[in-house]
Amino acid sequence: MAIRVTEQGRNFYLETLHSMYQIKADEYGVLKHIWYGSRTECDMEYLLDYPDLGFSGNIYEAENKRDYSLDTMPLEYSCKGIGDHRIPAAAITHPNGSDALDLRFDGYEIKKGKYVISGLPAVYADEDEAETLEIYLKDTSSDIRVILKYGVLEKKDIITRSAVFCNMGDAPCKITKAFSLCLDIPHGDWDWVHFHGRHIMERLVERRSLFHGVQESSSNRGTSSHQQNPSVLLCSNDCTETSGECIGALLVYSGSFQTKIELTQLNQVRMLMGINSECFSWELKPNEQFSTPEVILSYSDSGMETLSHNFHNVIRNNICRGEYKQSERPVLINNWEATYFDFNEERLENIAKEASKLGVDMFVMDDGWFGKRDSDTSGLGDWFVNEEKLKGGLNTLVEKVKSYGMKFGIWFEPEMVSEDSELYRTHPEWAIQIPNRKPTRSRYQLVLDMTRQDVRDYLFKVISDVLSSADISYVKWDMNRSICDWYSAELPVENMGEMQHRYVLGLYELLDRLTSEFPHILFEGCSGGGGRFDAGILYYCPQIWCSDDTDAYERTKIQYGTSFFYPISTIGSHVSIVPNHQTGRITPFETRAVTAMSGSFGYELDLNTLSEEEKNAVIEQNKRFKKYGPLIHNGRYYRLSNPMTDKFAIWSFVSENSGEVLVHGMIFRTEPNMTRYSVKLRGLISNKKYVVDGDNTIYTGKALMEGGILLPKPWGDFFPIELHLKEV
Ligand code: GLA
Repeated sequence: MAIRVTEQGRNFYLETLHSMYQIKADEYGVLKHIWYGSRTECDMEYLLDYPDLGFSGNIYEAENKRDYSLDTMPLEYSCKGIGDHRIPAAAITHPNGSDALDLRFDGYEIKKGKYVISGLPAVYADEDEAETLEIYLKDTSSDIRVILKYGVLEKKDIITRSAVFCNMGDAPCKITKAFSLCLDIPHGDWDWVHFHGRHIMERLVERRSLFHGVQESSSNRGTSSHQQNPSVLLCSNDCTETSGECIGALLVYSGSFQTKIELTQLNQVRMLMGINSECFSWELKPNEQFSTPEVILSYSDSGMETLSHNFHNVIRNNICRGEYKQSERPVLINNWEATYFDFNEERLENIAKEASKLGVDMFVMDDGWFGKRDSDTSGLGDWFVNEEKLKGGLNTLVEKVKSYGMKFGIWFEPEMVSEDSELYRTHPEWAIQIPNRKPTRSRYQLVLDMTRQDVRDYLFKVISDVLSSADISYVKWDMNRSICDWYSAELPVENMGEMQHRYVLGLYELLDRLTSEFPHILFEGCSGGGGRFDAGILYYCPQIWCSDDTDAYERTKIQYGTSFFYPISTIGSHVSIVPNHQTGRITPFETRAVTAMSGSFGYELDLNTLSEEEKNAVIEQNKRFKKYGPLIHNGRYYRLSNPMTDKFAIWSFVSENSGEVLVHGMIFRTEPNMTRYSVKLRGLISNKKYVVDGDNTIYTGKALMEGGILLPKPWGDFFPIELHLKEV
């Protein structure tokens, strides 16, 4: 049993293989958070100490017990306005204008299997893989109830959380904060690790000691964003890849979010994660419910590597869905960096034809095939084939590409509209903008109001028509701007605060309809590269274009940061030409291939422009990706260096039984007359014996893990590394 309850029904233990989460409803019905850490087989309440602290008030029933304060004790779901002055997870404005919420225990239920959240992506699991705990809370003086839901995937070391707000009264009220996670940690010295960045430079790792007060990483852009990612790690000061304690939290959500962490007056930590409360309010009418998105939690006492393995496992098996969830992904060639908008059917055909000869599986036609779309200033919304560019129409091109033995994929940016488009001329009211205020353009485009059913129906129809008109195997779903000017004529004025969340719900509804209607199509997410790289999108699209930066050197940093939570199979990664289009940097062809192979592999160039030698390299790279792909996608991933600080970027993939290892990466600079670098491998079996392809030396696993493996002597900068080891 993953969920245990004591006889009195007030102490809850959520147990996974290596972690324990403990909650208690105390004598006043206050729900306390007791513990999230390793499995101690002990009631951890003895660790809690309640000081009598001036200016930290006491609940009425506690009378003059001055050491009983909601302001100092670890709480399971903190609320506004009742004497806990730390950051609140929930707040509601009642009909009388007050916004206090005092939630007390009102029972519980344990269920087999994992709860689902209607309209929102969430971890799914078989009945025998997961258990659900529902804790019922009710406000002391209103008819608001809250259900805290916990999903426990015991063998995967995963606990999920979500909250449901219910209005059992007869008047509407307004939710102004509804975080998915509230996690109080009463002891320890913690660092905060988060992933920040910008367009073409996403998910850079930043680690900081917590300071007293509130620190935050968030997005108010309507998407999860390039700038911050809805994922966070709290780790002990001494935590490394392989040792120390850490807790990871990942929000399954693609819109504006907030992660807030407070280091309190008593050096306790409170972490909140959920919908960005500055961009959110929700009217809760009588008998209605509101569900928050889900947070996935994992705890490790053996460093960040274990945590990453836990998240990779749950995302790959319990978030990603569909036919491509486990199966090998096609190697694709995308024409974007090869042609940008400047193409016709002949140019595309030539790229596809050459690629087919070199072993590529699929051709993807990127932006520019529809409406009037010769630049990024027009055409979005007109999802009709531009027959001036593609003479003979889409089906003719698709059949041509198929005749070369390749599959065909296509690009859409469904949520957008250009002012210079038929769609905008017909339906200007479908674009998000505030009456009497000029909208903000970004990439010269506006955003469609995805909260509207008519907009979603239109998009479903036009996209379905295109997808049914030819044999299409893949869709790249792009989204190329941040959203502002929030206003929808469809929403009552007083409920405009719902729009951002309703946009995300609308997006999920459309994604759900299209992915269900076309189950054989592989959908890849994208937002100017990795601007919406999150677990919500991965529920519909099992891979996401990781970054518009295809420079192999920069990619080592971007993919390093991405790997903390997201499995390698989800990371779209391509080889492009040099000088690189984003940085002007020149890296060797093989280095670009090795870096792109740590993902869902492909090319983003015109192979016709390559030399014969490079073309032969492409043939050989494709063979290698076919050979190593299953190990890369199904194996355990190890970050063997830190590319932000080390002289090389080295990572590895290890098969389930540790009998096969692939070491990939690059040495950044060549230094003359230097000894060779060595790197300690991980995840091998000490007494197994291994050999490296092309070498007869026999190493023990212990030697490779404790002494390391010597990297080849580099020649030239950004020198590629590939070492394949097998057990003998
Ligand atoms: C975004 C994507 C690119 C490409 C362009 C097309 O930037 O990330 O890969 O599809 O849009 O406009």
